[in-house]
Amino acid sequence: MEENMIKNALSHGMCVSNMAYAIAKEMGFDDEFCREIAIAGMIHDIGKIRLSSYLYGSDENTLHIEQMKYVRMHSQLSYDIAKEKGFSEFVQECVLYHHENYDGSGYPENLSGDAIPLGARIIRVCDVFGALISDRAYRKAFSVGTAIELMIDEVKNFDMEIFLAFQRVVNSANIDKLIATKWT
Ligand SMILES: [Fe+2]
Repeated sequence: MEENMIKNALSHGMCVSNMAYAIAKEMGFDDEFCREIAIAGMIHDIGKIRLSSYLYGSDENTLHIEQMKYVRMHSQLSYDIAKEKGFSEFVQECVLYHHENYDGSGYPENLSGDAIPLGARIIRVCDVFGALISDRAYRKAFSVGTAIELMIDEVKNFDMEIFLAFQRVVNSANIDKLIATKWT
């Protein structure tokens, strides 16, 4: 992977990790839960390393069908790596299901509602937010305000209790620090 790609992947991991930790704290989970969700946030996309030649610089919306299949493999690959490396079952589940949507439209198993592990539901919200507020090969980063509006349009994808906690975190004084994960 090119240096920039690695930096982007690390920045995204840190942003998701920080946000997930803050949301878990906001929701009143204990220290161990918060620590574990922060780890899951950091490594949720680690499987993309094994797919890097297919994925980087591509837009998930404009990928060809063949590439799309590879994109969808990354959560399974992240899970495989998390398992191999001895991360907890909680972390493994977070990464495996971080693309499941609350309405059942996600992958890899089309789980819906509370059938999706709680940690994965938290990572889902943070992952979408982190992607929207960062530059992509095909578009500039959205502002935090625009990102929230776009997420409200797609709120069926999210657990509402988590989404409300997420909004409280975004409106907190700390938000700039939580998302300031870019290298210059
Ligand atoms: Fe992902």
